[in-house]
Amino acid sequence: MRRARFPTDLTGKSVLDIGTCNGGLAFEAERRGAARVVAVDIYPTDHFGFDRLAEHFGSNAQFVRASAYELPTIFEEPFDVVAFFGVLYHLRHPLLGLDAVRRVSSGEVFIETAVADGPPGTAKFFRRREYGDDSSNWFVPTADTLLDWCASSGFDAEITDTWGERAALHCRVTDGPPEYETLSYEVAIDVTVDLTPIPERRH
Ligand SMILES: C[S@@+](CC[C@H](N)C(=O)[O-])C[C@H]1O[C@@H](n2cnc3c(N)ncnc32)[C@H](O)[C@@H]1O
Repeated sequence: MRRARFPTDLTGKSVLDIGTCNGGLAFEAERRGAARVVAVDIYPTDHFGFDRLAEHFGSNAQFVRASAYELPTIFEEPFDVVAFFGVLYHLRHPLLGLDAVRRVSSGEVFIETAVADGPPGTAKFFRRREYGDDSSNWFVPTADTLLDWCASSGFDAEITDTWGERAALHCRVTDGPPEYETLSYEVAIDVTVDLTPIPERRH
């Protein structure tokens, strides 16, 4: 959170934590004064221990089991602050994911993700478990490609820190429609994903 320059004071803000896992960021956002915290993950609350930690902290954070792609179909009101940490490289459709994040954001978006070396404008695709020996990793862009993806999806993005193969970004939602909508045939897509059942991951 520090590397992404996540706000230390969230008083009165609505916060969405996408890919919340055990809820660490969501609970910290509450501690920092957020008025409303919604935590989203594709796995249920007992999978990573969100349920037990929520009880431990006496949290009022709302948990929604959903995929990042579905967010625009779930939330009518956009969030002031959105966290998208450690999720982008797990998406088979990263731009669709960023487009969905944009549609539920009205202010600032903080991203933490993997970046790769390579020629400008490229991203690496991992068909199986070539990246981190983890079959749930799909695309890892170069840092400049990541900034271009964010700009295309309608964010003014800045890399706030890099370390190893990771980068943290601070993004502001641009005025008007996202850039891609002004350039191509593509329009925002409402995606409904059937999430049941999620099998145990195969390694
Ligand atoms: C590497 S963990 C990151 C957890 C936490 N955000 C962090 O930074 O420590 C990835 C999380 O994203 C969730 N996830 C993966 N694909 C997702 C998707 N399509 N939509 C929402 N969450 C997803 C996983 O279940 C997991 O909890």
